[in-house]
Amino acid sequence: MTKPSLLILPGDGIGPEVMTEVRKVISWFGQNRGLEFDLSEDLVGGCAYDAHGTPLHDDVMAKAQEVDAVLLGAVGGPEYDNLGFDLKPERGLLRLRKEMDLFANLRPAQCFDALADFSSLKTEIVAGLDIMIVRESTSGVYFGEPRGIFQEGNERIGLNTQRYTESEIDRVARSAFELARRRNNKVCSMEKANVMESGVLWREIVQKVHDADYTDVELTHMYADAGAMQLCRWPKQFDVIVTDNLFGDILSDTAAMLTGSLGMLPSATLGPFMENGRPKAMYEPVHGSAPDIAGKGKANPIACILSFAMALRYSFDNGAEANMLEQAIESVLASGARTPDLMGPDDGKPFTTSQMGDAIVAALR
Ligand code: IPM
Ligand code: MG
Repeated sequence: MTKPSLLILPGDGIGPEVMTEVRKVISWFGQNRGLEFDLSEDLVGGCAYDAHGTPLHDDVMAKAQEVDAVLLGAVGGPEYDNLGFDLKPERGLLRLRKEMDLFANLRPAQCFDALADFSSLKTEIVAGLDIMIVRESTSGVYFGEPRGIFQEGNERIGLNTQRYTESEIDRVARSAFELARRRNNKVCSMEKANVMESGVLWREIVQKVHDADYTDVELTHMYADAGAMQLCRWPKQFDVIVTDNLFGDILSDTAAMLTGSLGMLPSATLGPFMENGRPKAMYEPVHGSAPDIAGKGKANPIACILSFAMALRYSFDNGAEANMLEQAIESVLASGARTPDLMGPDDGKPFTTSQMGDAIVAALR
């Protein structure tokens, strides 16, 4: 049997550090559970720009199209702020999402018991929290044309276009309903149908998909601003939230922080199924490259390790191993291990990135 292939793109900032810890976990599964991957590694983001003058080399794009899954660390850094728009590190990530047609970005926000006290919200509001945001990720204002900065009379205008086709809304709605069936059977769709035509169409199509094929799933609609408020007021009312690219970007950061730290949250971005029955897929932590702490051993590797757990579950049919890994992380947190993002100023000595990775591998044993 050929080994499943995984392309690792550590990227910039803390990306390489957290990926080193993921590699320890991958090795452990290879040595102890016979899970072998055909691994390759390449550049994306600022480091790719430094090496090749582009945030994603065509060869890497082609490779990403061939492999069974991509695992990405993070991209970006202040040294790239003044680059032209098409050269910015973020464009590498967005190109991967767009060209692989990864339209459903799954962002779970799950509160680990050991961290419930650490959330900025009251413990009872977040304890046991388990929601899933399904963010559309190949369209909307991120990619709509026309876009640009143009001269108009004696001043410039910055222009972006929010654009959704019926089929784009249809397919991401289906992903959300399918997921809800495997969870608590509830979907809340968020848009701004009160001010945006794209929101009116969004609401209409989500409802239509529901009424045609998913009447067993409970569907509600909410304006995205009210949704942000409700996420902070009583997040446990939600199961699956489906929303567009930009609202999903913002709402998923909000939801992530409810759980205590951005350093904990993984994501899976899935596209159409390939011939081998696997979905096109890229896995990445929700957090960014955190250049302020890069290289200092302060990064929390858990979001990236949990992203690998999602890869085990969604790409490689290794649900049992994914559960094992998640339980190992729970037990490490329960034992009190904390990276700096999970600590207050007087909470003692933090674990370094690599100590956290080692603790997770030890817990797997
Ligand atoms: C995310 C990030 C990206 C986005 C950036 C880095 C392009 O914020 O994955 O949430 O806006 O989608
Ligand atoms: Mg974001």
